Amino acid sequence: MGQLTGKVAIITGASSGIGRAAAVLFAQEGARLVLNARRGERLEQTAAEIDRTGETVATVAGDVREPEVADALVETALQRFGGLDAALNNAGDVGVPGPLADVDEAAWRQVIDVNLTGAFLGARRQIPAMLARGGGSIIFTSSFVGHANAFPGLGPYAAAKAGLVGLARAIAVEYGPQGVRANALLSGGVDTPMGRSVADTPEAQALVRSLHALKRQAEPEEIAQAALFLASDLSSFITGSAMFADGGASVCKV
Ligand SMILES: NC(=O)c1ccc[n+]([C@@H]2O[C@H](COP(=O)([O-])OP(=O)(O)OC[C@H]3O[C@@H](n4cnc5c(N)ncnc54)[C@H](OP(=O)(O)O)[C@@H]3O)[C@@H](O)[C@H]2O)c1
Repeated sequence: MGQLTGKVAIITGASSGIGRAAAVLFAQEGARLVLNARRGERLEQTAAEIDRTGETVATVAGDVREPEVADALVETALQRFGGLDAALNNAGDVGVPGPLADVDEAAWRQVIDVNLTGAFLGARRQIPAMLARGGGSIIFTSSFVGHANAFPGLGPYAAAKAGLVGLARAIAVEYGPQGVRANALLSGGVDTPMGRSVADTPEAQALVRSLHALKRQAEPEEIAQAALFLASDLSSFITGSAMFADGGASVCKV
């Protein structure tokens, strides 16, 4: 039996990178899935790789900044699969790196809206569905950036990802008595399109690798394993945590 057998999960940002790897892994572990990203074709590709029949996976293409997308994701989980047990709010946007004094309001809002407000909009709808089920697990893909580490040029992203830690803690205490857990997953550097966009030269990639105690970046599948742990009953007594899956970047000083 898989770690998510009988469970229903939402994953945002499932067309690529960590979200895609989590979709594949959660399905292998028995979950029925509702997947989201903006690029519908890529999302359908991920879904078809998991289950060509569509019996165990549904898709809702759209932007997590739109409240209607959060509605549709939860509604699909309820209508197609009868409930909701876990949600990996993972869609993210690192923005255009640059000095904070040069960040205009539109650029600030873009990054805050996708990473933080999008996660709030999702959780706001996911919580009642989980309460109806007697509990559930909400996960926010946060980052080592903004919590344990900071980098010049990533101010809006650091603020948004740190905000997810606070949001997880707030949900943990507010809904813990009714069985809903919430945790922030603090990933280190991961070899994904986003990771490669931030470190876009061999020198920058070598620098990123050197920041980690393990002296490498993660593969998206490794972060998916941490997300699986938080989504499943293996983590039944873990809530309100800022859980590192960062290859030791938070403690590495050499
Ligand atoms: N890579 C790293 O080093 C790293 C480190 C720490 C944390 N993270 C976090 O991990 C998460 C996943 O990133 P990744 O590294 O896997 O990058 P990725 O491969 O570029 O994937 C990002 C995903 O987010 C989706 N997305 C972006 N904006 C969206 C929006 N407005 N609405 C819906 N979906 C949206 C993208 O799909 P569409 O473009 O199709 O919408 C894509 O599926 C992000 O939250 C990121 O901040 C990444």
